[in-house]
Amino acid sequence: MRTLESIDVQGKRVLLRVDFNVPLADGRDGRPLVADDTRIVAALKTIEELRARGARLVVVSHLGRPRGERDERLSMAPVVARLRELTDARVTLAPAVVGSAVKALCEELGAGELLVLENVRFEPGETRNDPAFARALADLAGVYVNDAFGSAHRAHASTEGVAHLLPSAAGRLLESEVRALSEIVEHPQPPLVAVLGGAKVADKIAVIDRFLQIADVLLIGGAMCFPFLAAQGHAVGDSLCSREDVAHARGVLAQARSLARLELPRDLVIGERFAADTEHRVLDGVEVPAGWLGLDIGPASAARYASEVERAGSTFWNGPMGAFELEPFAAGTRVVAEAIARAPGLTVVGGGDSAAALAQLGLQAEVDHLSTGGGATLEFLEGKRLPGIAALDGAGVPS
Ligand code: 3PG
Repeated sequence: MRTLESIDVQGKRVLLRVDFNVPLADGRDGRPLVADDTRIVAALKTIEELRARGARLVVVSHLGRPRGERDERLSMAPVVARLRELTDARVTLAPAVVGSAVKALCEELGAGELLVLENVRFEPGETRNDPAFARALADLAGVYVNDAFGSAHRAHASTEGVAHLLPSAAGRLLESEVRALSEIVEHPQPPLVAVLGGAKVADKIAVIDRFLQIADVLLIGGAMCFPFLAAQGHAVGDSLCSREDVAHARGVLAQARSLARLELPRDLVIGERFAADTEHRVLDGVEVPAGWLGLDIGPASAARYASEVERAGSTFWNGPMGAFELEPFAAGTRVVAEAIARAPGLTVVGGGDSAAALAQLGLQAEVDHLSTGGGATLEFLEGKRLPGIAALDGAGVPS
């Protein structure tokens, strides 16, 4: 994969694809503002390096899923407002994605300045990877840098098509994501422990399969443990547990016997409702009574998982251990997150919910790598070739 060293950007216009698909919230004046700027902060290294090297930056990202039409609620305006607070650079918001007005603004751009294009998904050609739209994007700059790791699993015009039309390279964030995630799956220091939680087995089945092949231990928590417990014949009460997921879990358990050690909780925290003020108690065992639902792993399981993590040579964590947003069910995730923060081995965390849990605990800086990808991280770990990265591998256009 070509990286920033391989391209000359001095005085050139660089089309920089970032993933600024960030959560928004309503501001006090009713206008949207950025609720979590992690992805914007993560792109600053590349932005500042390119600025320091004299580049003129045309920044492009999607925000939400506007389906090829302009939608003011998904304008890049709040992102631009946050970016202005995070960099000293002059940052302008373009009135559209492409077109003559945008072209004129690109031509006026000075060294070290940023022009942020409007939401690239306002254009129908983006998700279709339309060659004419990719060409229109390419015409805005002389060099392409892709730092949008979170979008690398999408073969869209701004993530894939345009890479074939300009001298191209990966930005620093994309480079560091590929390095850290590759290390976990290709050269992990043993024992490799995968801590997997979250709601649905179906969404994670491919990643579970991969870790069964390469990990020494899989620790299962979150709502995801109930299909496994049901497959073993335990009562799950009203816990989240689809028939489809139980079938998946049965397949995983059959396979696991000859591969990695798969651990399930042996105690739980159960509640009557999914609410912070619900009746709740610790269940010594995993038989969930009717009328109750499992909402966290129990204290003994959390301690057992924590000690596995502390002995690990490498750990990958994706998905909370329980409904951590509700205080009575936050302890399992907290104990495991604190163990990951303390662990001496390599620690890699992926997924928005795990990142949010770390942020809530103030532990983001304590892990070796916090991935900015959701679907992209899982697909990378599954071993899929991501189109946004593959496009940077090819011969491309020489710089
Ligand atoms: C993400 O948030 O996972 C990426 O920005 C991709 O967004 P998408 O699922 O709408 O393509």
